[in-house]
Amino acid sequence: MRLIVCEHYDELSDRAAEIIAEVVKNKPDAILGLATGSTPIGAYQRLCEMNRKGEIDFSRITTFNLDEYYPISPENDQSYRYFMNVNLFDHINIDKSATHVPKGDAADPEAECRRYEAMLDRSAGIDIQLLGIGQNGHIGFNEPDRDLVTVTHVTSLTDSTIDANSRFFAKREDVPTKALTMGMASIAKAKTVLLLASGKSKREAVSRLLDETVTTDCPATLLKLHPDLILICDKDAMPE
Ligand code: GLP
Repeated sequence: MRLIVCEHYDELSDRAAEIIAEVVKNKPDAILGLATGSTPIGAYQRLCEMNRKGEIDFSRITTFNLDEYYPISPENDQSYRYFMNVNLFDHINIDKSATHVPKGDAADPEAECRRYEAMLDRSAGIDIQLLGIGQNGHIGFNEPDRDLVTVTHVTSLTDSTIDANSRFFAKREDVPTKALTMGMASIAKAKTVLLLASGKSKREAVSRLLDETVTTDCPATLLKLHPDLILICDKDAMPE
């Protein structure tokens, strides 16, 4: 694991954007694995800025997002499809038909997960997978559990995640209780995994990431098995 500790969130965002921009410059038809949540927003803003200045070109880039709530319509302003459009895709020269997010309004969610995993498998493979981390160590919506499903699947959100994500919804009851998420093996197929952690609320999860154990009780720890994992933390997220 390569660990980069930054002074603050702005520096973390700069570093993350630089690493992704490097991939895009070196491979104009790269496949990016993308994440939602508040943590990657700064990096997305910088990528939009670089694209606006003509420094990077997204016209041949393909993207796969990690997860989506279920059920939710893509027009709902809390859906991850909406989030990606507003925070990145609407501001860069990407072909929207090459941006993939699991469909939160699919009639048959299990079939949608199979379709998504098959699409990932048919692709040339994710070059870099950007990730945030849940306070409980979840990745995408792979929540702590005794057993984890390795591929894209339907999952139930834990109370801790519903609580954490309720800040974006009018009321807690509005948070969907299920989600479609890539599994830890789908994620680990990426050539490089770039994990971002910012703020004190992530300190415990980061501390588990930095100790020597791997456990499904903290799905992020499974990433330690990946040969090219980069963890960027700000000082607040770093255990003392
Ligand atoms: C959500 C997402 C995760 C994300 C996590 C942390 O539950 N499914 O992909 O990493 O939240 O979000 P934040 O960056 O807002 O703390």
